[in-house]
Amino acid sequence: MNISIFGLGYVGCVSLGCLAQNGHTVIGVDVNQNKVDLINRGKPTIIEKDIDKIIAEQHQKGSIMATTVAAEAVEKTDISIIAVGTPSTPQGHLNLKYIFNVAENIGKAMRHKDGMHIVALRSTVLPGTCDQVATIIADASGKKRNEGFAIVDNPEFLREGSAVQDYFNPPLTLIGSDNNAAAEKVAKLYKALPGELIITDLKVAEIMKYVNNTFHALKISFANEVGNVCSELGIDSHEVMDIFCKDKQLNISNYYFKPGFAYGGSCLPKDLNGFQTLAHDLYVKTPVVDGIGLTNEIQIDRAVKIIQQFPNKKLGFLGLSFKAGTDDLRNSPAVRVVEALLGKGADISIYDKNINLTMLTGTNKDYIDSRIPHLSKLLVADIKQLVMESDVLIVNTNEAEFKSILENVNDDKTIIDFVRINDDLLEQSNYIGINWGTTNIDSNNYVSSEDTVLN
Ligand SMILES: NC(=O)c1ccc[n+]([C@@H]2O[C@H](COP(=O)([O-])OP(=O)(O)OC[C@H]3O[C@@H](n4cnc5c(N)ncnc54)[C@H](O)[C@@H]3O)[C@@H](O)[C@H]2O)c1
Repeated sequence: MNISIFGLGYVGCVSLGCLAQNGHTVIGVDVNQNKVDLINRGKPTIIEKDIDKIIAEQHQKGSIMATTVAAEAVEKTDISIIAVGTPSTPQGHLNLKYIFNVAENIGKAMRHKDGMHIVALRSTVLPGTCDQVATIIADASGKKRNEGFAIVDNPEFLREGSAVQDYFNPPLTLIGSDNNAAAEKVAKLYKALPGELIITDLKVAEIMKYVNNTFHALKISFANEVGNVCSELGIDSHEVMDIFCKDKQLNISNYYFKPGFAYGGSCLPKDLNGFQTLAHDLYVKTPVVDGIGLTNEIQIDRAVKIIQQFPNKKLGFLGLSFKAGTDDLRNSPAVRVVEALLGKGADISIYDKNINLTMLTGTNKDYIDSRIPHLSKLLVADIKQLVMESDVLIVNTNEAEFKSILENVNDDKTIIDFVRINDDLLEQSNYIGINWGTTNIDSNNYVSSEDTVLN
């Protein structure tokens, strides 16, 4: 295919060489004449292992060239890849001036071009940027989106220092678009590469790099906080983290990576507190670890806020324990939610087949007695009765029996789901997920409100 790449920095230069090596003809565009001249002399614009050889070879073959003239590049190609920088402003916002400038240049160049032109954003951009770019291109070209041109988001996952190796071995190829034909055409550029191809919505693709890189930074900071505590105790932090990484069931796995409700139970809160106290006593600062409990409180608060959108309604809780299949109520976030709502005078019933009050003993009993002493008056033994008598159903645990019963709930009842019990419910207008779909809650209001469990 014939491809133009706007921006000949790290991403652009590596893409230029590697796409050409995979059999495509590539024109690089940059405002920097120096970089354009380098490419046209068969030299890379960056220092990076193997890229010098690739650029020299592809230059020799006549598969790559560079120019400062956008119109020339757009005219001769079917796909334009945008790989210009997206630095942060001093306030921390994304500076999109280079992206928008390229979009305008591509749009103007397209005025004189027939046929469908595809624009692929390779730069890291926040959700909504592709739509802004499409508007600029439509205005500058006079063409309609998905008629004269299409836009896709195609984030790059390479790392400097191993960029060529990463290009040829991506963890996955991600393409977001509202135009399937365009997404599939861009996917063909990478058909020689290993890794899963994922075609998804524009905004999902746009946010992925931020989620990935935020997590990578979190991993580094978490390991450093663990390391700092370990070294104060004379413990080999590398041995600790090596063992940590050997647990592929709970640690290095997709377990716990589902957005939803707060954690609870007898172990996570207790052991997190233990680690924090250990660090504190050693005078080691651990702000990442310290933030975990706050995030959990915010999640409980969020749940309360969502339910409070339905004042004076009969609330029915499906599950009260901290997870399905147990009667452990200790530090169950649902207990905190019920407690907060009861304090506001809410009318609450609860169904949880695992809870038998006469069987509760020890710290489990002490915990619930101190939080909801009259729990027996709220418990309903028959799930059908609870569903029938409630206006709002709150799903707190992922019990199999809840799935089928919720599929047949009347539209006049609202379902508030903390566990994503059944994806089939997501399209229903009476359904609210705690952090998927629409929650309608004012997200600016969590911490400041006086009504929250946080205060
Ligand atoms: N560097 C990385 O490791 C890496 C990895 C993945 C994603 N990214 C993302 O890719 C994007 C590019 O990063 P980079 O490190 O390659 O940037 P870079 O700063 O190295 O290169 C950007 C290039 O764009 C050129 N440019 C600016 N305005 C232009 C215009 N109007 N027309 C043509 N060219 C123009 C600049 O002259 C420069 O050569 C960023 O969004 C970055 O976050 C970078």
